[in-house]
Amino acid sequence: MFVTVFLLLVALCSQMGNGDGGEGAQRPGHVSVIIVGGTGDLAKKYLWQGFFELYVNRVSGGNTFSFYGGGLSPAEKATPVLFEILKAVSCSKDVSPERCALLKEQFLRLSQYRQLKTQEDYQDLAKHIKKQLQEEGMTEAGRLFYLSVPAFTYADIAEKINSSCRSANGAWLKVVLEKPFGHDFRSAQVLASQLGSSLKDEEMYRIDHYLGKQVVSNILPFRIKNRKFLDPIWNKHHIERVEIVLKETLDVKGRIPFYDQYGVIRDVMQNHMTEVMMMLTIKPPMNVSSREEVLQNKLQIFSSLLPLGKNQAVIGQYRAYKTEVQQELNKTKDHVSLTPTFAAVLAHIDEARYEGVPILLISGKMLDERVGYARVLFKSDIFCLQNHNSVHCKPKQIVFYFGHGSLKDPAILVSKNLFKPAVTENEWKEVTEHPDVSVLGLPISDYYVQTPIEQREAYAELISHIFAGRKNNFISTENLLASWALWTPLLSSLASSFPRIYPGGADNGGLLDILLKGKDISYNSRAVIISPDQMGGSSTNGFQVMQGKFRSADMVSAWAEELVERLAADMQEAAEAAVREEGVFHLALSGGSTPLALFHRLSQHHFSFPWRRTHVWMVDERCVPLTELESNFRSLHDHLLQHVRIPYYNIHPMPVQLNQRLCVEEDGGALMYERELGKSVNDTSFHFVMLGVGYDGHTASLFPGGKANELNESLVVLTESPVKPHQRMSLTFGAINRARRVALLVMGKGKHELITQLSRVKDNPDKWPITAVKPVKGRLVWYIDYDALIG
Ligand SMILES: *[C@@H]1O[C@H](CO)[C@@H](O)[C@H](O)[C@H]1NC(C)=O
Ligand SMILES: *[C@@H]1O[C@H](CO)[C@@H](O)[C@H](O)[C@H]1NC(C)=O
Ligand SMILES: *[C@@H]1O[C@H](CO)[C@@H](O)[C@H](O)[C@H]1NC(C)=O
Ligand SMILES: *[C@@H]1O[C@H](CO)[C@@H](O)[C@H](O)[C@H]1NC(C)=O
Ligand SMILES: *[C@@H]1O[C@H](CO)[C@@H](O)[C@H](O)[C@H]1NC(C)=O
Repeated sequence: MFVTVFLLLVALCSQMGNGDGGEGAQRPGHVSVIIVGGTGDLAKKYLWQGFFELYVNRVSGGNTFSFYGGGLSPAEKATPVLFEILKAVSCSKDVSPERCALLKEQFLRLSQYRQLKTQEDYQDLAKHIKKQLQEEGMTEAGRLFYLSVPAFTYADIAEKINSSCRSANGAWLKVVLEKPFGHDFRSAQVLASQLGSSLKDEEMYRIDHYLGKQVVSNILPFRIKNRKFLDPIWNKHHIERVEIVLKETLDVKGRIPFYDQYGVIRDVMQNHMTEVMMMLTIKPPMNVSSREEVLQNKLQIFSSLLPLGKNQAVIGQYRAYKTEVQQELNKTKDHVSLTPTFAAVLAHIDEARYEGVPILLISGKMLDERVGYARVLFKSDIFCLQNHNSVHCKPKQIVFYFGHGSLKDPAILVSKNLFKPAVTENEWKEVTEHPDVSVLGLPISDYYVQTPIEQREAYAELISHIFAGRKNNFISTENLLASWALWTPLLSSLASSFPRIYPGGADNGGLLDILLKGKDISYNSRAVIISPDQMGGSSTNGFQVMQGKFRSADMVSAWAEELVERLAADMQEAAEAAVREEGVFHLALSGGSTPLALFHRLSQHHFSFPWRRTHVWMVDERCVPLTELESNFRSLHDHLLQHVRIPYYNIHPMPVQLNQRLCVEEDGGALMYERELGKSVNDTSFHFVMLGVGYDGHTASLFPGGKANELNESLVVLTESPVKPHQRMSLTFGAINRARRVALLVMGKGKHELITQLSRVKDNPDKWPITAVKPVKGRLVWYIDYDALIG
């Protein structure tokens, strides 16, 4: 026995001589690996195993190693704990038991525990390493710190490493960090800048362990390898939708103090799922190993993602969570946590290639099964008259299956009616023998299936990337901040939303089913289990649409939703009549927030609106570039024009910016708009003008005390809001009163006071500009919702 071990040792040592030098510009030499938090859960479950594999694979690579488990406990206490963990590491199947025993013994001998609490502890560690190098006559290759500790300690540890533990004479330093990297954009930025003062960017390795999963890291290589099949179909014409799903069956009991501050969006969406979305949507890089190119392509997608608002997410919380929070956070019975344990989010990428393609991200705790996958579902373009079971009649999809669920193993599946994919040699293989299971609605025999030849744990994979300095599998600061910039506004808008309560497991039934409506997402079922805290408010469905008179003009009144529906219908009727009689419809729209509901209604419901024959004009405009959020035109574009099929040349924004300046009288912008109007609009008489009214009684941008009333000869003027320096361009009463139809939309409780006043005052354009709206030949109709009318 002794003899065998001896011989093996000799064999091993002779192997060490002919090293391959490793990848990159790494010089062979001694490597010190320090796991800070070396006796913690993650270290126990994955990290030591990963470093053992690194050691096994690298003993022939010319490097020598020392391993340190660091922690706050004193060495007497923690050393036995560490060795229990180390003894549990295992070898891969192709290593003989004898060799495995030997490797483990060496690994144990190279490892030790060190208390790492104070600055002195880090200095002592540095001295220890230096002494060891001298004694054994070794040169140092580098030091790898793995911080497996709570994120709030990162900055402090990084600082200690920088001040006491940097290696001298050109050896590398690598510091590995795990999420959470901040709590929102601001805190991520603060953490990044703190770390940046101690570590260089290239020294930091931010781990997202999803990027170490074999299926996730193979998404891009798969897309590139199968380019000739995918290029023609990886776009809006063919992709029905993209789904990224992580379902878990476990709860978060025991982790509440952490989890309650984060919730599912921060826990998995901002990081893992966002990275998967990137891999699926970025432009395939020319060079997959080029970190810079991959990063640029990601930032491109980040900048094209439409903002996520309240309507792009639904959230839920499993029922027992509330009690768990009360217990673990020591709260009273009336404490309510709004932290979501389930979320579904709908993203859209505003690029020609993906326009309108829904990207759905779903994850939650306490669901019916444990599974993770990304599916690209393609549109069905085949109509099967008969034989619906033949392959070509079935759904077409590509599934990147991360693991668990019915299939258990990681795999990439391609419907047989799509194409036969190429396989990444050396690492992946096609499999044809399958258990009798279905994956996402298709029996496995309907797929081409490929799996990794050898399954590797994500951490082991990432540890080998870190060692080799392959940085493209890690999250750069820019990448991180771009992701937070996407998620932070959504998180703030959901901060006071009540999650839907779900019972957990199979009992969830259809409660968490999702409905996609255009760019919005909602729960499919309306049956909400409301917690008592949410009660209050009353249903208001009593009234229907009411007709009457207001200021001796016609009035339509209803609850907001019906009112908007009615106005949209009236507008469409006017449009159809105009197109019938004159072949064209001239519509002037005002800005502000009141018409947004109308724009939404028009874009989502009125598909037969004659947009191709409609010209859209502006009632008024702020003197800001049209690209600014405050621009009325920008708002009109974002909420209506981009969603409907209106020809560009039918759109008439006001020329507020001329000669690189805004609204200067002598640039003649107002006159220019008036001429344009004169050329296009018969008798300068709009078919339909939609107006709102401000709290001070202004309409369009015609303010109390303004001179606009005198300018009845011009149609367009520059005006000034009483709240200077807000300049505007506006149609005049002259232009408005020539219209065939004028609609005045007033909505919301806040306008009740105004409506009450207006019902009493006489015409007084100087004080109440709105009272000057009196179409000469046309018809004025007030659309006032019940909130504004009744209060
Ligand atoms: C590290 O510490 C030194 C001083 O000890 C300081 O000059 C340097 O800026 C710090 N940061 C980095 C990234 O080296
Ligand atoms: C791809 O990028 C890697 C990393 O930047 C680089 O080492 C390699 O030479 C590049 N390959 C090609 C073909 O440009
Ligand atoms: C829980 O809170 C109560 C009242 O604040 C306190 O007396 C008690 O010690 C706390 N218990 C724990 C376990 O923190
Ligand atoms: C212009 O409008 C008048 C009614 O105001 C109408 O009689 C005439 O046909 C219109 N002209 C054109 C060219 O549509
Ligand atoms: C312009 O309006 C004023 C006041 O409303 C009126 O007295 C005047 O006659 C109008 N001028 C023209 C040309 O319509």
